[in-house]
Amino acid sequence: MRTSEELTTARLVLRRPRPADAGSILKRYAADPEVTRFLAWPRHRSLQDSLAFVRWSDEVWSTAPVGPYLILDGERELVGSTGLDIETPWRAATGFVLARAAWGHGYATEVAAAMAELAASIGLVRVYALCHIDNRASAHVLAKVGFTREGVLHRHVILPNLDPQVPCDVECWARVR
Ligand SMILES: CC(C)(COP(=O)(O)OP(=O)(O)OC[C@H]1O[C@@H](n2cnc3c(N)ncnc32)[C@H](O)[C@@H]1OP(=O)(O)O)[C@@H](O)C(=O)NCCC(=O)NCCS
Repeated sequence: MRTSEELTTARLVLRRPRPADAGSILKRYAADPEVTRFLAWPRHRSLQDSLAFVRWSDEVWSTAPVGPYLILDGERELVGSTGLDIETPWRAATGFVLARAAWGHGYATEVAAAMAELAASIGLVRVYALCHIDNRASAHVLAKVGFTREGVLHRHVILPNLDPQVPCDVECWARVR
C-alpha cells in the first residue's frame, strides 16, 4: 500500500522532499553542528550533500510505500525532517530532526506521533527509534508518544558527527501493536 506523499498534523505539513528544497535543507538544519550531533548521517557541508539526500529520498520513494518527509510549519517554512524506513513487512525505523529555531514548540512530539500512526495505518506492528544515550530530549519525545524504552544497544552504531570510527551506545525505543 502506497502512502500519501503529503500529510498534515495539527500545526505541520509533512511532505516528500524535492530538489528545490536542497538549499533550505542545508541552511535550516542539515549543516548545523548542534542539530546534527547525535544523527546517523554526516552533517551536510555543501548543496551537493543536500541534493544527494533528495536523490536518496527519491530512490526510497520509488521502491518503498513510504519514505522521508520534510517538516513545514504553519508559514510553510522548512523546520526539519522525519520519515519511516521500512525494514521488513512488519517493522519500520523512524527518527526526527528539527532546526534549532524550531525546538521547544512540541513539533517533534507531533511528528513522532504522526509517524507512529502512519506506521500503524499501513499495517506495521513495530516502529522503533534509536537515540544516543545522552539525547534526553529525543528520549523524552519518544516516551511522550507511547514508545517504550527497550534497553541500551552497546557499541551498536556509528554516529559520524560524534566520531566516525567509534560505535556508540544507543537506546532502543519502540511502539508495538
Ligand atoms: C530532539 C528534538 C527533535 C526535539 O524537538 P522539539 O520539537 O524541541 O521537541 P518537543 O518540543 O516536541 O519535546 C521536547 C521535550 O523534551 C524536553 N527536553 C528538552 N530538552 C531536554 C533535555 N535536555 N532533557 C530532558 N528533556 C528535555 C522538553 O521539555 C519537551 O518535553 P515537555 O513537552 O514535556 O516539556 C530536537 O531537539 C532536535 O532536532 N535535536 C537534534 C536532532 C536529534 O537529536 N534528533 C533525534 C535523533 S534520535
